[in-house]
Amino acid sequence: MKQNKIAVFVGSLRKESFNRKMAKALIKLSPDSLALDIVELGELPLYDQDYDDEGKPPLAWTEFRQHVKSFDGVLFVTPEYNRSVPGVLKNAIDVGSRPYGKSVWAGKPGAVVSVSPGAIGAFGANHHLRQSLVFLDVPTMQQPEAYIGNATNLFDESGNLANDSTREFATKFMHAFSAWVETNTSGRE
Ligand SMILES: Cc1cc2nc3c(=O)[nH]c(=O)nc-3n(C[C@H](O)[C@H](O)[C@H](O)COP(=O)(O)O)c2cc1C
Repeated sequence: MKQNKIAVFVGSLRKESFNRKMAKALIKLSPDSLALDIVELGELPLYDQDYDDEGKPPLAWTEFRQHVKSFDGVLFVTPEYNRSVPGVLKNAIDVGSRPYGKSVWAGKPGAVVSVSPGAIGAFGANHHLRQSLVFLDVPTMQQPEAYIGNATNLFDESGNLANDSTREFATKFMHAFSAWVETNTSGRE
């Protein structure tokens, strides 16, 4: 069976991050048609165009760019910081988008999940991220949307999803994403 490789980006570096727990839950509940790996973002130096212009990008950028290129699709799982995308995730997106004309994002099908202890499920971050993904030519799944609120009640002590309805939603989301990736990669090598 064909498997599509998906890079998962978590917009939080916190040890007990709800978003990381959600990313792990989504990975567990995904169909066999997807092979998902979390790509770490915390060691990427802040983007500075001078390094690219001088042809001397930091090794961590080069490795990140090559690694992301090897995936068929991208899944973002992010909190909201001040109604927008956390800097660590935005930095990774910027690093992957350059040098100009060599973006690693273009054409890779994607999806966005946002998770917050708040009631509106990080809607602001979710949609700010979608704004960047439009420009980066990432065909981003529209339905189902995933604004996951009240995160403090979602996980048990082992970090697993604690209730059936969220598990069912996460499963449905990953099946829809698998179909989305398949549709948007068919015909490619
Ligand atoms: C700098 C900062 C800004 C935040 N701004 C928001 C916000 O705009 N909306 C929101 O729902 N939560 C906000 N929060 C709370 C986060 O949703 C909360 O810390 C959450 O647990 C972060 O996700 P994580 O558990 O994956 O680390 C903010 C937290 C920080 C540290």
